[in-house]
Amino acid sequence: MNQPPASIDAIAEALQAQAYLPSRELATAAFLALRLSRPLLLEGAPGTGKTAIAAALAAALQRPLIRLQCYEGLDLAAAAYEWNYARQMLEIRLAQAAEHQRTADELFARRFLIERPLLQALTTQPAPVLLIDELDRADAPFEAFLLEFLADYQITIPELGTITATAPPLVILTSNRSREIHDAVKRRCLYHWLDFPDAARELAIVRARLPQIDQRLAGQVVAFVQGLRQLDLYKLPGLAETLDWSRALVELNAVSLDPATVQSTLGVLLKYQDDIARVQGSEAARLLAEMREVVRA
Ligand SMILES: Nc1ncnc2c1ncn2[C@@H]1O[C@H](COP(=O)(O)OP(=O)(O)O)[C@@H](O)[C@H]1O
Ligand SMILES: [Mg+2]
Repeated sequence: MNQPPASIDAIAEALQAQAYLPSRELATAAFLALRLSRPLLLEGAPGTGKTAIAAALAAALQRPLIRLQCYEGLDLAAAAYEWNYARQMLEIRLAQAAEHQRTADELFARRFLIERPLLQALTTQPAPVLLIDELDRADAPFEAFLLEFLADYQITIPELGTITATAPPLVILTSNRSREIHDAVKRRCLYHWLDFPDAARELAIVRARLPQIDQRLAGQVVAFVQGLRQLDLYKLPGLAETLDWSRALVELNAVSLDPATVQSTLGVLLKYQDDIARVQGSEAARLLAEMREVVRA
């Protein structure tokens, strides 16, 4: 798809072709982000498809994907650009040897600039999809720096001037909400909250990602996980866990869920001992009984 999608249905279909099944609301948000050239801020629990949609959009739109993983202490040099000091020093030495005068201006030319993801997003053709992942991990000053970038798709480099994108990249920002993203960033973005999928969509996703899985087993896995999400656990399993568990069960040649199989594979779904202890035994038996009600295969 070289043309931007003409409709919400078109973008939903293009994503489905990448085995990413968006909700109608998410497809609408992505459509509008493209049409309005606005960044899209995605929040939601871990494992709800925030990171994956950026890759799926890039593939669907046939655009390069540029990824910036945020972390505490992320700074301009790692996120946007850095001067290549080693090359500048070399240039000065060479100039000295040739008794040629080098002016500071010449030393701050584009060829001495190392482009990091944000700057790459402005200079790459065709306009890429830029994923700014887990923004809540970066510190607040970094968000302040992002404001110019998000508002005007440009970066101002003091020694060089302002670099602007010829065509705006599609920017996807994600947050796991370990802290609130600043209002000023939010104001520049469209916003969408990703929830856990309902049973029908989760089942469709498992089938799309794991075509070889037994249909009945897939139904049971989804019903069980949906049941788990009703419990008051420290960390609820996301889609990533549903898919991991499905893969594990396929690997074990399981054809249906029984207490022993659940017991021995809970660590694929739950990563905290308190949660595992809570679910093991009678709770798992209750969920399995409930699951049989739902699936009644
Ligand atoms: N709507 C979806 N359709 C297909 N696969 C999905 C969908 N949402 C999530 N996934 C899959 O679930 C896993 C977790 O998604 P991810 O994007 O890493 O979650 P997050 O970034 O929200 O923590 C990935 O393997 C991803 O491919
Ligand atoms: Mg993620």
